[in-house]
Amino acid sequence: MKQIITELLKTEPYYISAMSNISAVIMDQMPDLNWAGFYLVRDGRLVVGPFQGKPACIHIRKGRGVCGTCFDTDKTIVVPDVHRFSGHIACDSASNSEIVIPIHRNGEVAAVLDIDSPAFDRFSEDDRRMLEGVAEVMEQLLEW
Ligand code: SME
Repeated sequence: MKQIITELLKTEPYYISAMSNISAVIMDQMPDLNWAGFYLVRDGRLVVGPFQGKPACIHIRKGRGVCGTCFDTDKTIVVPDVHRFSGHIACDSASNSEIVIPIHRNGEVAAVLDIDSPAFDRFSEDDRRMLEGVAEVMEQLLEW
């Protein structure tokens, strides 16, 4: 998957185009997902960006929910059971597990990649490593 995403980024690094196709590739290639997409940092909070899935909450404050916590702590967060994550924001009631990865621009979090699954404990250590690799290549190639 990282290879396809690298090719997409090389073809068109503009962030809206790249994030749109990257969310589509993730949704298409990873089984058991119900939402995959990006929240972008704007004016100190997150605003929804390109995604695949049901309509999502538009704004998330820093420190709120899984995405806002990822933005605040600058760390990947794997949530095996979202019902046990205090403050989890339920955009799609089908979600049972979630992973959120920070994406940096000039050393600061500029976006987060958020992926939800209806399965519990969907995201393995291998998934985390692979998705952090995707974030890394995005950081190298994206044009904002
Ligand atoms: N569950 C996220 C909100 C975004 S939706 O999953 C698309 C959270 O708690 O931050």
